Amino acid sequence: MARKVIIDCDPGIDDAAVLCMSLFDPRVEVVAVTAVAGNVSPEQAGRNVQAIIDQLDPPRFPRVGAATEVEEAPAVDGTTLHGRDGLGNAGFSVSQLHHQHPSDKIICDEVRAAEDEVTILCLGPLTNVARALKRDPELGTLISRIVICGGSVSVGGNVTPAAEFNMYCDPVSARSVFRSGTTKTLIPLDATREVALNFDTIDELPEETTRAGALLRKILPFAFRAHHQTLGQESIRLHAAVAYFSIVQPELFQAEQMAGDVEIRGDLTKGATVFDRRIKTLWMPNMDVVTEIDAVAVTDCIKRALTDCGRRT
Ligand code: RIB
Repeated sequence: MARKVIIDCDPGIDDAAVLCMSLFDPRVEVVAVTAVAGNVSPEQAGRNVQAIIDQLDPPRFPRVGAATEVEEAPAVDGTTLHGRDGLGNAGFSVSQLHHQHPSDKIICDEVRAAEDEVTILCLGPLTNVARALKRDPELGTLISRIVICGGSVSVGGNVTPAAEFNMYCDPVSARSVFRSGTTKTLIPLDATREVALNFDTIDELPEETTRAGALLRKILPFAFRAHHQTLGQESIRLHAAVAYFSIVQPELFQAEQMAGDVEIRGDLTKGATVFDRRIKTLWMPNMDVVTEIDAVAVTDCIKRALTDCGRRT
């Protein structure tokens, strides 16, 4: 039976790639795609989610949630690696922004409609999940699992020396989710950065004549150029895609229970994820953290899934 999933995302090229794969993957039923600010503004995130779904025209349309402003959001620039519009400046048109409810309301509705069955895959900041837990105080006990792409255990940050991007964008919400009594799995930067896609990925993308191919062939070349120009890298990291495969191919991932929290202050450390790994741990374990992945196998899965999504569109 397909696993019910809510994809909470801030597209963003890697998040867009996950939507291309997941919306046609028989292993999952994407019941909702909820936009969150992060790589792009709340408005752009909502437009991008709608534009991607319109472009892909999946067999089952998920509900779409609208992102909302984050109080005291730090100044971040997700556009360097994702383009001014977050999708490689592809300029996708949006037919019309169907009336969108706020993402946190969609999350509450869909979890309530399938208690204990829904996995929430968080590919951006944790703003929406934190707000959903506040909107419905019982929600935490009804979510099957929250899978979080972000944070870091031993490799420092990528947006500051201490903080990973998704945690840094909204550390207060991240702390709130980390401290909630929910079942969580964290896919940290330590794991997601191990999967590097090289340029031959472009040659293996679906044909331009397919809906997924038309989208991927517009956004992924930008990612390669941006990684080369900005980071001096000849490969790209699709962090969100690694997190997605932790759901559909869990056998490729090893995790261990940890006690984690998020720094919400500190000029140098705001957004850092902190784990109690003392010999005598005093903090209560509150999540599973992926510590090992089969990077070669996950890379192959992502490349194959990107190719296959064209066969269904
Ligand atoms: O740190 C990785 C995260 O930052 C990913 O979600 C990617 O979209 C980037 O925004």
